[in-house]
Amino acid sequence: MEQIKKDFPILNNDKIVYLDSGATTQKPTKVINEVKKFYENYNANPHRGAYTLSINATEIYENTRCKIANFINAKYKEEIIFSKNATESLNLIAYSYGMENLKKDDEIVISIMEHHSNLVPWQKVAKHTNSKLNYMYINENFEISDEEIKEKITDKTKIVAITHVSNVLGTVNNVEKIIKYAHKKGAIVVVDASQSIPHMKIDVQKQDADFLVFSGHKMLAPLGIGVLYGKKEILNKMNPFLMGGDMIEYVYEQKTTFAPLPNKFEAGTQNVEGVVGLGAAIDYIEEIGYDNIQKIEEEVVSYAIEELSKLDYLDLYLTPNKENHLGVISFNIKGVHPHDVASILDSKGVCVRSGNHCAQPLMRFLKIDSTCRASFYLYNTKEDVDKLVLALNEAYNMFKKYIK
Ligand code: ALA
Repeated sequence: MEQIKKDFPILNNDKIVYLDSGATTQKPTKVINEVKKFYENYNANPHRGAYTLSINATEIYENTRCKIANFINAKYKEEIIFSKNATESLNLIAYSYGMENLKKDDEIVISIMEHHSNLVPWQKVAKHTNSKLNYMYINENFEISDEEIKEKITDKTKIVAITHVSNVLGTVNNVEKIIKYAHKKGAIVVVDASQSIPHMKIDVQKQDADFLVFSGHKMLAPLGIGVLYGKKEILNKMNPFLMGGDMIEYVYEQKTTFAPLPNKFEAGTQNVEGVVGLGAAIDYIEEIGYDNIQKIEEEVVSYAIEELSKLDYLDLYLTPNKENHLGVISFNIKGVHPHDVASILDSKGVCVRSGNHCAQPLMRFLKIDSTCRASFYLYNTKEDVDKLVLALNEAYNMFKKYIK
């Protein structure tokens, strides 16, 4: 594990205990070097030039699309669309599919644990199309029960949009079960894989989601690159989201015909360095292997749960079912604001996120304002957990006289 940490320049600083990979992961030397190599040797605008440099840049860009298609087992490389991040991918689906296919009294079903990016766009679609936005709520184990799935997904449901793993609770939703049931009811399913794909193998054909989105920066790639996977037959029927260069076939003074997939959805100059970095991140993940990533994380996260559970001044927000939990632990020191706790942890070099984690409806449902959140990845160690516990004890000792 210490060996893996050495692959991440920023973590070679002993003072940093990085526990905010749910927000963004650190980047290995391999990714940093590939981006540098691109700028030093291949930089040009793909699809724009007949000269060798641009042809090479096009080849790198398109080869990475194939690499991603293989990585998630998409049937066709045209099913992979590059975007800015998962949020943009979700907006694309909401605007180009949701706005155009939903009508009055249709229903959209999401869960109460959605990140705002998989919630606010659906509010907009519901308002615009006069459809209804319904929620699947969680039980006392912070999980969505089978009964809840069956009650909320009905014959009126046209879209189910669900996170694979909650960015606050770490609950792993049984998306295969939800997809199967939603398809039986005639609905399409959108899976937000932002918090799952860094940690587990995704096979889109096996899973059978109609759309799946993720951000590169949560899986070791640079910031600003995202992916939308969509089934070809659905994407083909959808109108473009953003208009501009490279997404067209012919442009006349008053009308335009559009390029085929995937260009139809990639308007303007793309984030090629992000694509290059994402390709390198996938290579790195495949070199380590998801089996090893899971082994490392299971050991560290189990240890963290064990140690944090011993601190009776903490409230923890996670399911007791270990097999349904991944990557993140949200907690509060009873009676102390999470921002104060996070500041003290920061002064000890421990980086955790505090706040509502872009999940205000979930916070309201849990009857809290905010939490601290430690989120783990393959470079974390049990020593990181020990440092977190030590820093928490110091924070508690500092605040306990003020706790009512
Ligand atoms: N979505 C990211 C998080 O949960 C930013 O922290």
